[in-house]
Amino acid sequence: MELFNNFFEANGALSMLGRASHVLFGITWIGLLYFFNFVQVPAFAELSDGARSEALRKLTFRALWWFRYAALLTFATGLILVGVASSDTNSNYLTGPSGVAILTGMLFGITMFLNVWGVIWRNQKIVIGNAETVAAGGTANPAAPAAAKKAARASRCNTVFSIPMLWFMVFTAHGGGFYPAQIGGTVVYWVVVLALFGFIEASALGLIGGFDSPFNTLAFDKHKHTIIAGFTLLVVIWIIGWEILLPV
Ligand code: HEM
Repeated sequence: MELFNNFFEANGALSMLGRASHVLFGITWIGLLYFFNFVQVPAFAELSDGARSEALRKLTFRALWWFRYAALLTFATGLILVGVASSDTNSNYLTGPSGVAILTGMLFGITMFLNVWGVIWRNQKIVIGNAETVAAGGTANPAAPAAAKKAARASRCNTVFSIPMLWFMVFTAHGGGFYPAQIGGTVVYWVVVLALFGFIEASALGLIGGFDSPFNTLAFDKHKHTIIAGFTLLVVIWIIGWEILLPV
């Protein structure tokens, strides 16, 4: 079968199948992330307590199942893609410009995956559990509002990261026409990218000035500001990194 010719090689069918499923799982995950951020959060602010509780238990609960397993499968198929591409001994996939691009995308993507399972889901379980208890006539869990805030900050942080993440995922294979064939300055590039990334992630985790720090309030309170922050992050990385530091 043609499909199995060079199956495990960089341009073989495993890479093609892995790529198609990676994008399918990725759109499922990020589509739900955008639904939560741009639709559910503003709608929940307008719902009555009873309606919000019912929506949390019956709608958000289901959406979060698809959300976190799509994140897991996106991550797993992403690892297959990077494994197949970097096993090609004839290419400088990880050491050339494609490596800098995909490692930048992966830095954001893997952090987003960890935020989903380690912060958003862990805290949403408390929030939804509390809604279940209250709906059954029990007493509210005092930890629920703080858990909701932690989940919300991580979710907005993932929305910011999703913009440069997707750019660098696609750019790796399709940016060859305009990115430099020769690069230098990668150490300074990584210092800049890691500083920006670290500041935003640590802020979202409440580690820099708490959950209501000036940065968090500005970038995460309103979803329109979150979208602007995502594009700003991309433009800053692009101009400082790919226009100034990397080309030789
Ligand atoms: C979770 C961690 C992730 C990892 C480790 C990862 C890894 C990768 C790798 C290695 C590639 C191949 C790049 C290449 O050589 O062309 C890729 C491509 C891609 N990824 Fe991801 N990715 C992740 C998350 C995501 C997410 C969340 C999305 C959202 C939709 C996404 C969408 C894409 C797209 C659209 C491509 C380009 C496919 C193409 O142009 O052929 N990835 N990813």
